[in-house]
Amino acid sequence: MVLVTGGAGYIGSHVCKALSQEGFTPICYDTLEKGHDWAVRWGPIERGDIGDRDRLDEVFERCRPTGIIHLAGYIEVGESVREPERYMHNNAAKSRVLIEAALAHDVEAFVFSSSCSVYGLPQADRLSETHPIRPLNPYAESKAHVEATLRDSAARGLRSAALRYFNAAGADPDGEIGEAHDPETHLLPLAVDAALGLGPPLTLLGDDHPTPDGSCIRDFVHVSDLAAAHIHVLRWLQRSPAKGLHEAFNLGSGVGYSVRQVLAETARLAGPVPLKVGPRRPGDSPRLVGDISKSKRELGWTPTRDLGTQIEDTLRWRRNMAR
Ligand SMILES: NC(=O)c1ccc[n+]([C@@H]2O[C@H](COP(=O)([O-])OP(=O)(O)OC[C@H]3O[C@@H](n4cnc5c(N)ncnc54)[C@H](O)[C@@H]3O)[C@@H](O)[C@H]2O)c1
Repeated sequence: MVLVTGGAGYIGSHVCKALSQEGFTPICYDTLEKGHDWAVRWGPIERGDIGDRDRLDEVFERCRPTGIIHLAGYIEVGESVREPERYMHNNAAKSRVLIEAALAHDVEAFVFSSSCSVYGLPQADRLSETHPIRPLNPYAESKAHVEATLRDSAARGLRSAALRYFNAAGADPDGEIGEAHDPETHLLPLAVDAALGLGPPLTLLGDDHPTPDGSCIRDFVHVSDLAAAHIHVLRWLQRSPAKGLHEAFNLGSGVGYSVRQVLAETARLAGPVPLKVGPRRPGDSPRLVGDISKSKRELGWTPTRDLGTQIEDTLRWRRNMAR
């Protein structure tokens, strides 16, 4: 049994599917504040808040999970700038409650969804795990805070990993689940919806960044590749002989595409993407691309689905959602 907090959300539901395909039973622990009950298909749901210690104790005692994959949290950078306390409370303070529960119930492995945003302004073309941690907004700050709590908890016997995701994209290749955020802020669904006439024209957030075509460069990783990595990490933690440990791993594709390149590929697969140019978003890095050599080497994980596949899977999913 593996407890998946945020298991009703976009990435969490793909993680639950991957776990069940590998013979684990995922228990989705989610408030459903942002997630969807239709996305919980591969195990039971325990509705609850990660900040509710009594509810956590009750679920831990009944289900006895050996691992936790902790994806629950708020995810919007812009909102975190407007409401920093809400983000620090939900993402950082409540995670501390979950970590204390994991320690009290002797959970073998704790996997945390962190973010490449913890690196702040990049000092290299490809960011490795040793890049300094300099969060630029409360969302990233909350992620860095949880990483630090987990690092400190190693001395108390917790075995944990922080997974620094780059940009999750795409949808389940079987078409069963996909991204359904409200409001949607991610590039691929917005671009596909604009191309299909299901949404407004896409707003390019600045075309004067110091990049070859003026748009930001990002590293997109298919959500099913991302989900598969969690199984590799669970096994890596479970076979580690150390009693307490903490490691960070980048999860991306290792390849950078500019927003304009993504739009050109979307246009090729879905039709022209209506576009308007807006101002830069404060705090946006011109380039965020991961060095994923540590994850490949130590976890034996390699992403397999390219940008074209990510767009095609998004396209299929958004068409289905619109029906
Ligand atoms: N989507 C990305 O590209 C990306 C990139 C970097 C990191 N991440 C991280 O991955 C995780 C999952 O992201 P996502 O895109 O699937 O988000 P999502 O909003 O689709 O899923 C998050 C889930 O957490 C639940 N939740 C929120 N607060 C909770 C709480 N206090 N207790 C219980 N459940 C709670 C929500 O109801 C939702 O189902 C997040 O932690 C996010 O910060 C995502």
